[in-house]
Amino acid sequence: MRAYAPYSGFAVGAAVRTSHGLIYAGCNVENASYGLTICAERVAICLAASLGERRIDALAVSAQKLAHPCGACLQVLSEFAGPDCWIFVARAGVVEETTTLGQLLPKAFALRREGEGSCTCGPNQ
Ligand code: THU
Repeated sequence: MRAYAPYSGFAVGAAVRTSHGLIYAGCNVENASYGLTICAERVAICLAASLGERRIDALAVSAQKLAHPCGACLQVLSEFAGPDCWIFVARAGVVEETTTLGQLLPKAFALRREGEGSCTCGPNQ
C-alpha cells in the first residue's frame, strides 16, 4: 500500500476484515484541495463495499504515531459494522490499542436499525 500524503507527510495504512474473512487494505490519498483528502480507513471500507462486501467485523489502522480513526471514518464504518466491530490501533504496525466501534462512536447516526431492511443490490447478499 502506498500512501499519497505529499501535504501532511503523514502516511496511514488501514485494513478491514469482512464477514467473509477477506481483508481489504487502503491508504490515505491527499488532495491539493485539502478537504478532499480521503483517510486510509475510508479507502479500505469503500474498496470492500465496492466489491460487494456488506459486513465488516474488524478494522486496523497504522501510522508512525498512534492515530485513532476520525469521526467521519467511524460514521462510514458504522454503515457496514455493528458496535462490536473490533478496532485495532497500531503504531508502525504494532497494535497498541484494541477497542470497538461502539466505544469510539457510541451514538452513530443511523436511518436503519441493525439487521433491518438491508440492501439487496450487492452480489454477496
Ligand atoms: N488520516 C488517515 O488516513 N486516517 C486517520 O485515522 C487520521 C488521518 C490521514 C488524513 C491525512 O492524509 C493525514 O492523515 C493527516 O491528517
